[in-house]
Amino acid sequence: MLALGSDHAGYPLKLEIMKHLDERNIEYKDYGCFSADSCDYAVYAEKAANAVTSGECERGLLFCGTGVGISIAANKVKGIRAACCSDEFSAEATRLHNDANILCLGARVVDTAKAVKLVDLFLDTPFSGEERHSRRIAQITEIENKQ
Ligand code: RB5
Repeated sequence: MLALGSDHAGYPLKLEIMKHLDERNIEYKDYGCFSADSCDYAVYAEKAANAVTSGECERGLLFCGTGVGISIAANKVKGIRAACCSDEFSAEATRLHNDANILCLGARVVDTAKAVKLVDLFLDTPFSGEERHSRRIAQITEIENKQ
């Protein structure tokens, strides 16, 4: 199960990605927003991120205008590694190296075709499991635990 979330700016791209997930028979739960009316991205980042850290969802996809605000908000939730990506290399590498559990996309940055490619790379790429990457992720967790 994937957790989805967006603000108003990311809402149209979220709808396009939902169609793509339907075509791939990938289950998701949408934590809002539910219209293109102006709203605040942190609200929906927190809801979707909590669904990931609680185990209700395995990973998440978040959308705002740039992908940046919603990624900053999601990364405040302990255990979240949210990556804002606009290129294929980063979308793949953030799974291989960072074991990112949320992908954030900017609807004003990437078009639907690019977003679909990034989502597929994010969903289909496993964490490499290499020691150096596990060590670095553990260091991120240590920083979190010191706050
Ligand atoms: C909303 O206008 C916009 O600021 C938001 O979607 C996002 O891009 C923030 O980072």
